[in-house]
Amino acid sequence: METSVRQADREAIEDAARLLVSGEVVAFPTETVYGLGADARSATAVARIYAAKGRPSDNPLIVHVADMEQAEQVAQWTDPLARRLAARFWPGPLTLVLPVLPGAVSDLVTAGLDTVGLRMPSHSVALQLIAASGVPVAAPSANRSGRPSPTQASHVEQDLDGRIPLILDGGSCGMGLESTVVRVVDGQMHLLRPGGITTGQLQEAAGPDYRLVVADGEELHQAEAAPRSPGVKYTHYAPKGELVLVDGPRVAVQQWIGAETAQASAAGWRVGVLAFEDSASFYKADLVVSCGSRQHPEQAAQRLYEALRQFDEQHIDKIWAETCPDEGLGMAVMNRLRKAAGHRVLRMSAAPPRPQ
Ligand code: TXA
Ligand code: MG
Repeated sequence: METSVRQADREAIEDAARLLVSGEVVAFPTETVYGLGADARSATAVARIYAAKGRPSDNPLIVHVADMEQAEQVAQWTDPLARRLAARFWPGPLTLVLPVLPGAVSDLVTAGLDTVGLRMPSHSVALQLIAASGVPVAAPSANRSGRPSPTQASHVEQDLDGRIPLILDGGSCGMGLESTVVRVVDGQMHLLRPGGITTGQLQEAAGPDYRLVVADGEELHQAEAAPRSPGVKYTHYAPKGELVLVDGPRVAVQQWIGAETAQASAAGWRVGVLAFEDSASFYKADLVVSCGSRQHPEQAAQRLYEALRQFDEQHIDKIWAETCPDEGLGMAVMNRLRKAAGHRVLRMSAAPPRPQ
């Protein structure tokens, strides 16, 4: 199949909408990452998403809508908390997992669960595309399964060229990491995936009557691995090289990574470091990527996936990454980094390792 990449102007968006209505898949930009969309009501169309991505079909997909009317045709909105969160954060990077209306979308979208993940993106191209098609649009990130999510049209092309008919190019995604996923069922609010909307923002919007159940660190990993959020049991975002996170006081981390890269380099490996800008110049490696300021995790969020792709392009065998505080948007950054590293995290104590 020939894949065309088109500037997301009005004509291209209308053509993309026609493809969606005819049961085809289309890649399009959102404010988080690029999505690979299909008509959520059609099993044939949704099956094409799984085929193009090479993704197992027991992993449920997020349904994207352009307005509340569409959202009400897909899910049950009986819980006042769900309405409150949608009113506060939509359009935007929040996915609400709500009870699904029977028959509203294909079982392939929900993976047979009685809930559905719903999101109204804020990117104008995404909103125009969904509105023009008039259908709820199921869309996971537009990468091959196991690869970092795409934040530019060229990333989608790298992964899906020849496998889908059209990529709408809307430039770089502003946020760079996927939406926050929150389950709101029976008056309970569970964080299933940290993302662009922080836990602080969610708790503030929900008010004192609700408590956001957040299991951080290992607990979050376990909660995610449970069947409640089936997507997380698969390997995600993995670069081809082996990635290890090194956590701890900055100087200890620098010395450790410095010694490891030198040793691995001497042994003939191609080595890489993912660092924050306050220590990037410290490292000597085949590729050092700075993900911006440690104090501004929105910069790391925006650069992370592209950085992981760069390590692949440069055929890096071993990668060490610094960490940032696991709070605010940093929680989403760390969550993705831990997944990319297959949960290999080294913790340095204050005392630096002895130089060899
Ligand atoms: O920002 C985003 O959310 C992007 C853009 C394209 O909108 N989409 C995205 O989709 O990241 P995907 O398929 O890569 O991730 C969907 C996540 C998975 O972790 C999945 O398990 C969870 O949402 N999810 C979807 N429906 C669910 C449901 N009914 N119950 C629990 N988790 C669900
Ligand atoms: Mg994904």
